[in-house]
Amino acid sequence: MSTRFKALVSRYIDEINVTKNIELKDISELPQNDTLIKVEYSSLNYKDTLSANGHKGITRNYPHTPGIDAAGMVVETKGKKFKSGDKVIVTGYDLGMNTSGGFAEYIRVPEDWIVPLPNDISTKEAMIYGTAGFTAATAINEFQKHGIVPESGKVLVTGATGGVGTLAIAMLAKLGYKVVASTGKMNLSGYLTKLGASEIIQRDEINDKTEKPLLAKQWIASLDNVGGNTLATILRSTFEHGIVCNCGMVEGITLNTNIFPFILRGVRLVGIASAETPMKRRLEIWNKIFNEYRLAEYNFNIKEVTLEELPNEIDLMAKGEQVGKILVKISN
Ligand SMILES: NC(=O)c1ccc[n+]([C@@H]2O[C@H](COP(=O)([O-])OP(=O)(O)OC[C@H]3O[C@@H](n4cnc5c(N)ncnc54)[C@H](OP(=O)(O)O)[C@@H]3O)[C@@H](O)[C@H]2O)c1
Repeated sequence: MSTRFKALVSRYIDEINVTKNIELKDISELPQNDTLIKVEYSSLNYKDTLSANGHKGITRNYPHTPGIDAAGMVVETKGKKFKSGDKVIVTGYDLGMNTSGGFAEYIRVPEDWIVPLPNDISTKEAMIYGTAGFTAATAINEFQKHGIVPESGKVLVTGATGGVGTLAIAMLAKLGYKVVASTGKMNLSGYLTKLGASEIIQRDEINDKTEKPLLAKQWIASLDNVGGNTLATILRSTFEHGIVCNCGMVEGITLNTNIFPFILRGVRLVGIASAETPMKRRLEIWNKIFNEYRLAEYNFNIKEVTLEELPNEIDLMAKGEQVGKILVKISN
């Protein structure tokens, strides 16, 4: 086996100049963890754009190979849980942050980060979900645990055309929920309807600038990908005993709100931190994805790209211009 392999490498020159190129690395350069995996597929997430473009809050040291998602085959392991030839998924933990990530032909990770892939699921299908699908599924599971059923009312998804938004809408619609999709791309209404959204709204409609402590009630549950004033607006427009899951921050990280949604309407705000999901819960969520939440068809944008094409896709996602899922084919 050659010990040289292809990887996307980000090199930090200064805050503005960060290069992203495909380079040859040596397996000996990978971190000294117990399990070496040959990556077949990865997928692109917003966090990867931050890491790839030099965001020191995500990745401290460069040169660095991003990629928070990987699915492939165990090549060798010093651990006890897996054997060579096993098909596996790794998402989150420190992968692609300060541990060399999935935008490469090989990763070496602790076995405690690894999820076994069921026999009837391909590495490609696993990465159509990836962290985005896992995050959407975690929120949907929070809704269900909170007692939200399709008859409870409308469910809002913000950042609708993005990776998390797309997977969330498709899975919620499959489960019979009435989904309101909030988007900045009204020209893609047809796409969102086909995905399963029953109503589409312009994202400005949930960006209330008034000082009103509460707003007209609209949704019973929300998955918010954008944060900022959008999240503040959602909280104030949620029905009594509704639930709001926030996972993202593409609009902003500051939340200015008041306590009335909580003490007058009993609204529950739940943070989703998929990377840190403990293994027991992680296995439960993947099990949901591959069974109850599994999509019968993938009728949304799935752009399959090579490592060489990836830098351009990263730049498009950083500008909020991607639609659906970006799948990265790494090796056979
Ligand atoms: N906490 C976690 O566990 C977790 C896991 C995964 C992702 N995330 C976070 O969730 C967010 C979405 O991730 P993703 O991978 O789905 O990213 P993505 O594919 O880039 O999607 C983000 C979407 O947000 C919308 N958007 C972009 N800029 C916006 C702005 N300034 N204001 C409002 N909306 C804007 C766009 O959709 P429209 O044009 O349709 O509005 C865009 O497609 C990111 O913040 C990411 O870091 C968190």
